[in-house]
Amino acid sequence: MIIIKTEEQIQKMKKAGELLAQVHREIAKMIRPGITTMEIDRFVEEYLKERGAYPEQKGYQGYKYAICASINDEICHGYPREEAMKDGDIVTIDMVVNLDGWLADSAWSYGVGNISEEAQKLLDVTKKSLYLGIEQAVIGNRLGDIGHAIQSYVEPLGFSVVRNFVGHGIGKDMHEDPQVLHYGIPGRGLRLSEGMVITIEPMINVGSYHSKVDNNGWTARTIDGKLSAQYEHTIAITKDGPLVLTEQGE
Ligand code: MF3
Ligand code: CO
Repeated sequence: MIIIKTEEQIQKMKKAGELLAQVHREIAKMIRPGITTMEIDRFVEEYLKERGAYPEQKGYQGYKYAICASINDEICHGYPREEAMKDGDIVTIDMVVNLDGWLADSAWSYGVGNISEEAQKLLDVTKKSLYLGIEQAVIGNRLGDIGHAIQSYVEPLGFSVVRNFVGHGIGKDMHEDPQVLHYGIPGRGLRLSEGMVITIEPMINVGSYHSKVDNNGWTARTIDGKLSAQYEHTIAITKDGPLVLTEQGE
């Protein structure tokens, strides 16, 4: 069941989204060789707590951390760890902020120090694919239009779209209907209407789109060990077009 949000509720989610965007801007300043993702996890938890917010992922279905931190071949749901990140790594930090009971969800990939040309291209293409998807998030379009915009941009460039993890509706719950696939056929799927709030969160791989999950039951990584990146925003479908609730600005 899709839960349509009122303008007032969307404004509450935007407050959570603005705080989440602020956290990502802070993380961008922290990322360098030598920092650990556990330090970032602790920072996020503290930063949110000081502002009366909560990292919704912590405690969600037994997940123990404030953030997911997925390094290099990890696609998503990487555990924060005490090991320092190295020059040339890429890392995706994903989190869900709960502010006054309303949620916002955003993941961002970062390069650590000097990264390879291939890694930089992956980050650029993945981010661009997110915004191409967002452009399609307008009243009257269908979910397939979003997926198609992403897939038809990414694949000709030689990258692949992860199939096993998808975007979702969001509101007072982290995962609501509908599922938002990052591949698809234009004109197919659910029609978008005013007041829907969804995430678009393409995970894009250098190699094959196939993934496997670690023994911890959470962390998904590429089967070929090649790099994966992800950018995610929370977006409201409004009369005035897509409203990105987690926009970081320049
Ligand atoms: N933020 C993720 C998403 O985009 C969900 C993370 S799963 C959790 O859907 F367990 F870490 F919360
Ligand atoms: Co997320």
